[in-house]
Amino acid sequence: MIVGSGGREHCLAWKVSQSKLVDKIYCAPGNGGMSEIGECVPLESLPDLVSFAQEEKIDLTLVGPEAPLSQGIVDLFEDRSLPIIGPDQRGALLESSKIFAKNFMEKYRIPTASFETFDDYNDAVDYLKKRDTYPLVIKADGLAGGKGVYITYDVDEAIDALGELMVDLKFGNAGERVVIEDFLEGEEATMMVLWDGKSCFLLPSSQDHKRVGEGDIGPNTGGMGAYSPAPVIDEIVRGKVEKNIVHPLLEGIKKEELKYRGVIYLGIMVDKKKEPWVLEFNVRLGDPETQVVLPRINNDWLEVNLAIWEGKLSEVKFSVSDFPVLGVVLASKGYPGNYEIGKKISGLEKFPNRIDDEVLVFHAGTEKGDDGFYTAGGRVLNVCARGKTLREAKDKVYRAITEIHFENVYYRRDIGFRAIGEK
Ligand code: AMP
Ligand code: GLY
Repeated sequence: MIVGSGGREHCLAWKVSQSKLVDKIYCAPGNGGMSEIGECVPLESLPDLVSFAQEEKIDLTLVGPEAPLSQGIVDLFEDRSLPIIGPDQRGALLESSKIFAKNFMEKYRIPTASFETFDDYNDAVDYLKKRDTYPLVIKADGLAGGKGVYITYDVDEAIDALGELMVDLKFGNAGERVVIEDFLEGEEATMMVLWDGKSCFLLPSSQDHKRVGEGDIGPNTGGMGAYSPAPVIDEIVRGKVEKNIVHPLLEGIKKEELKYRGVIYLGIMVDKKKEPWVLEFNVRLGDPETQVVLPRINNDWLEVNLAIWEGKLSEVKFSVSDFPVLGVVLASKGYPGNYEIGKKISGLEKFPNRIDDEVLVFHAGTEKGDDGFYTAGGRVLNVCARGKTLREAKDKVYRAITEIHFENVYYRRDIGFRAIGEK
């Protein structure tokens, strides 16, 4: 069973469906694309998911988004001996509480921006007034759908941000406590680590494009495109990530006795001196990074996850394709603000997502109707392609996009600009 309904989950379903070990895939709740691969079941609450897994004797559950993990889906499944990959609720604090994550990084000497934490608005304001080095970054402690982070350039802006978080409670109780940290300059990248409690494997690097506008301007989104590998993570930086971040992180997870089996996502800033710093941890695969990383993994993804479940990850021989993959999100105009749904999508029949196809189209906010697919969300499709080079992959993606259409489609035309060096 795959829990979730986005592009990441469609990609997971696509990858798992290629396994010789799989008989049947359930998607809870899934999306239009996932309904072509497995059976979509309209379940979202944890009690419903657990009962369903018990009744259907689900052999393995993979969870896409952070919400069920932070609500304790793994604890519930494990109490009933139902196999599931992911951290328990305490382990999920690495993502669901920025204060927990920052204290953890401090304790285990993982490089991250210097910080202070506050649960009192007036104390935080006093601190902001004393600081004379801006920008400063103010973050809601709890989950805020990626929107609870403010980069502020002077004390007035910082106090406004604090007011939104701690007084107006714009993100509910997620903002009752805050982290205030130093601003780090550099280039961001993503590293995802598989971990079975004993050994780890670093998936290939990738880079997301979080802002809605070309050149990385405008509001943050769930991600407008990605590519893998990210050249900013060269061999030297990768070595530093492994030694300075992954090793102490995994030591810390063991020492703190976090029950953790699954993926650890590292949001990394690489500074001018090529030193990697942790911006954030996520306790799951990234979206849209998964859609460009998984097509590069030649292994059977179900076998990999069963090995994680059994604590035998060290026995897996990984094979990673040298071909880069780049993916562009087709969104509904207006996203991440208001947008219309229910638009007919045309051209998808040209992209059947066969295992060796150069272009792969993963669905996010889509629904299957009697006569084809319709838009059902802000981010609608991920159009991905492999190429001998990133440049070639990018050209293939943008060529494929000309064959797909829905009313009011919006997408960035510059995905990959940092690596390819052009818009
Ligand atoms: P987070 O959810 O903590 O990863 O923050 C969301 C985004 O805010 C990151 O992807 C960065 O673009 C930016 N950001 C967060 N923390 C910092 C920091 N200390 N310095 C610079 N940018 C940051
Ligand atoms: N791409 C960012 C995330 O998955 O959180």
